[in-house]
Amino acid sequence: MMGLWITFEGIGGSGKSTQADFLYEYFKKQSMNVVLTKEPGGTVIGGLLRNILVINLDVKPESLSELFLFEADRHETFKKIVEPNIKEGIITISDRGIDGSIAYQGFGRGLDINMISTLTNLATDNKKPDITILIDIEPEIAEKRIALRDNKTMDKFDLEKVDFQSRVRDGFLYTAEKDPNRVKIVDGTKDVQSLHKDIIQIIDSQIK
Ligand SMILES: Nc1ncnc2c1ncn2[C@@H]1O[C@H](COP(=O)(O)OP(=O)(O)O)[C@@H](O)[C@H]1O
Ligand SMILES: [Mg+2]
Repeated sequence: MMGLWITFEGIGGSGKSTQADFLYEYFKKQSMNVVLTKEPGGTVIGGLLRNILVINLDVKPESLSELFLFEADRHETFKKIVEPNIKEGIITISDRGIDGSIAYQGFGRGLDINMISTLTNLATDNKKPDITILIDIEPEIAEKRIALRDNKTMDKFDLEKVDFQSRVRDGFLYTAEKDPNRVKIVDGTKDVQSLHKDIIQIIDSQIK
């Protein structure tokens, strides 16, 4: 069996990490071979890049540098985690995946979408996740959740204003519109359990 590659996308505070954890536990309970990773920061190099890209608020790369670093992180995750897992029949769940750069560096920062698309395809060997769950939510609601999040430290992108988050949201919706077979939109305002059920249902119907 080839391993499934499942990604979660959406703005900060939409509930990706919560749902990625739930899905991981769901597969684990069924004794499935499953790995949970994240973007950026799933690999050793990715961990260093995550520090530059989201953690260290004093480090401000140029938009194009930011794009290159995200693509480098993406390539590391793809080569070191996703590709080997696919070959071994292991399910990979990723908390953020390949669609972030079109949303953040494209719609958010204004870099050219086609150029970003070309770089992302290069980073992932033209491969796409089997299923992408886009948790859609209004930035105003997400912002309130971030303020309440257990881990209160805000990252660089959490600190961006509502109009930036709104463009990023549009960027994710643009990707869903372009690739409707892969990217499935779920309603982020639903409660955690209902969302989990919706996600399981989508995955079940996709893998049939
Ligand atoms: N469906 C939901 N309804 C209400 N609150 C949620 C829901 N999903 C997650 N949360 C809460 O919102 C905050 C952000 O969720 P999180 O999973 O960290 O989002 P993300 O990883 O997308 O930034 C957390 O405090 C989490 O407990
Ligand atoms: Mg998260």
